[in-house]
Parts: sequence; C-alpha cells; structure tokens
Amino acid sequence: MTSEEAKKRLCLALDVDRLSDAVRLVETLRDRVTLFKIGFQLFTKEGPGAVQAVQSLGGRVFLDLKYHDIPNTVAAAAREAVNMGVYMFNVHASGGSDMMRAAVEAAASQSQKSNTTMPVILAVTVLTSLNDRILTDELNINNQLAHQVTHLAALAKGCGLDGVVASPQEITAIRERCGHGFTILTPGIRPPWIKNIKDKDEDDQKRTATPSQAIRLGADYIVVGRPILKADDPAEAADNIVRDMTSGC
Ligand code: C5P
Repeated sequence: MTSEEAKKRLCLALDVDRLSDAVRLVETLRDRVTLFKIGFQLFTKEGPGAVQAVQSLGGRVFLDLKYHDIPNTVAAAAREAVNMGVYMFNVHASGGSDMMRAAVEAAASQSQKSNTTMPVILAVTVLTSLNDRILTDELNINNQLAHQVTHLAALAKGCGLDGVVASPQEITAIRERCGHGFTILTPGIRPPWIKNIKDKDEDDQKRTATPSQAIRLGADYIVVGRPILKADDPAEAADNIVRDMTSGC
C-alpha cells in the first residue's frame, strides 16, 4: 500500500469538545488524514457547524452518531446526514432490518434528489464494551458474542449497508461471512511504539491491534483517536501511523 492510499484509509476521531480544537487538528493533519470522525461529544456541543468546519477545510466527515430508533425517525436523520454532505454515517444493526433498509432508502433518494454523492453507511454490530455475560444476563441474547457480531454484519449487508464498524478481533470472521467489498472500519488501534496513553494509567481499549496488523487482517479504514490526539506532536504521530500502515502490505 502506498502512503497516499494509507492516508485515505486513516480516520481521525475528533474526540474534542471545542470546535476551535477540532479546526486546529484538521488544519494540522489534513495532509496526512482524509477522513475525520465526528461523534457524540463534538456534535452535541457544536452541532452541524462542526461538520461544515471540517468540510470547509477539505476533510471528509464520518458522522458517528449510531442512529437507533424507529425506521421513520432514522430515515429522517439519514436524509439530514445527506443534506450535511457527510461522507459516511452509521446506524445500529440491532435496530433491525426495517430500520436499516429505511436508512439506506432515505439516503439514496435524498442523494438523488439533491444530486449529491450517496454516503457510505456502516452498521455497528455489538458494542465492544459488551461481553458474553452482558449479552446473556442483561440483554437476554442467547447467542455467543462472536456469532452475534457476524449475524448482525450479514443482516446489515442483506439490507444494503456498505459495511460495519468492527474490532480487530472481529475482522476475519466478518470478512469470511460477508466477503470482500464489504467495508470494515476498525477502532481500537494502538501503534506498537505506544506504551500508555498519556495522562492515563490504563488504556480502556482492551482488544487492540497495531495499524499494520489491522490492515493485514483486512480493515478498510482504521480509526485513531488518542494515539494522535494525545501525542506531543500529532503530525509526527500521524506520519508514523501512515508509515506503519504501509509496512508489509
Ligand atoms: O482514542 P481511541 O483511538 O481509542 O479512539 C477510538 C475512537 O473510536 C473513539 O472515538 C471511540 O468512540 C470509537 N470507537 C471505539 N470502539 C468502538 C466503536 C467506536 O473505540 N467499538
């Protein structure tokens, strides 16, 4: 993989609460990163202005709001995501097939109506904060977590979604079940040179992979937050991650 290809596949999580911090990061990193993830924190604080700010600096936006509601409501949200011109957004697969199909159909018709590019739509399968015990004891889902993940990934594919968000450990099974051409975006990335996330005694990401491992496993995109955000030199950290992505691929 060339470094230009790697840059297109590196997504920076803009996990900051001030628009000025997000803008500074995009300005510093836009030559190294093409895709910027806006999640609950920044969107709740700054709203669609955060999306516009990233786009006006030439960045593509992954709107990570994990829609999960009745089909009519999710369809309405999908239309607004199209109106904002986001490159990618996501929904919870556990919202069911009617909800996922409604999102795809609404995004497609709105894109056609407004003559804009159809966003990439991903599904969240099982949150990585859940485990087998929570699935069984609390959610009363009598399926092993790994099976539930691939089941929901296949369901999402059948509903016309473009791919899933998946941990490094889930990539191989999802690839086997859903094939190539189904997008896999992977968080939980920890570069090999990182011992600890600065200012934290312990990292909350347990199931991790290095950038090159995730790419070799079959991730199409990797999402990186703190290894860049908390680096002394975020640009250098991004350069090193791009280099690692290209190594051995
Ligand atoms: O800082 P870090 O690199 O762990 O950031 C990972 C990003 O990916 C965060 O924005 C987090 O919310 C998101 N994410 C995750 N695990 C998932 C899904 C999303 O860490 N399963």
